[in-house]
Amino acid sequence: MSDNEMLPTWSRTFEVGLERIDCEHKMILSALTDFLITVENDLGQRLAIRVLRVLYNYTKSHFENEEQIMRDIEYELLDEHHWWHGEFLERLEGVRDRFQSGENVCESLIGLFRNFLHQHILVDDAKIGEFARGLPLAISAFGRLPCPSEDGPGHPGRADIDR
Ligand SMILES: [Fe+2]
Ligand SMILES: [Fe+2]
Repeated sequence: MSDNEMLPTWSRTFEVGLERIDCEHKMILSALTDFLITVENDLGQRLAIRVLRVLYNYTKSHFENEEQIMRDIEYELLDEHHWWHGEFLERLEGVRDRFQSGENVCESLIGLFRNFLHQHILVDDAKIGEFARGLPLAISAFGRLPCPSEDGPGHPGRADIDR
């Protein structure tokens, strides 16, 4: 079985019900797919490092946006959620460093993002959606900010590929 066949894939099951968060989760998984395709098709280490940087930047930026939404809606579990984000970013940095040293990290990365999808999005992020749905419409609308366009200024890291 190739790495891509084991790929964590998006389905509506993973929607938390806040448009911006759902959209960013999809973008992250799309960047993960880009990286795996780059490696599997042997498109070159330099390109793969850039794509991995995009994946890292998307993820970091998503965590910051999600935490801002949590602050805006005064979400009660922000601190523990923030801790999990920090842990995940540290692990992702570790994988990135290993790849830059020449290791094949596809399986580690797939395992990491499976955990992200099934443990974090499905459990922890889903609670943000539940909490927001219990709020007055004007407040829960914070999570409805549109996702930045594919090549727009809100897409950190995309420039890394083009550079
Ligand atoms: Fe989260
Ligand atoms: Fe999230």
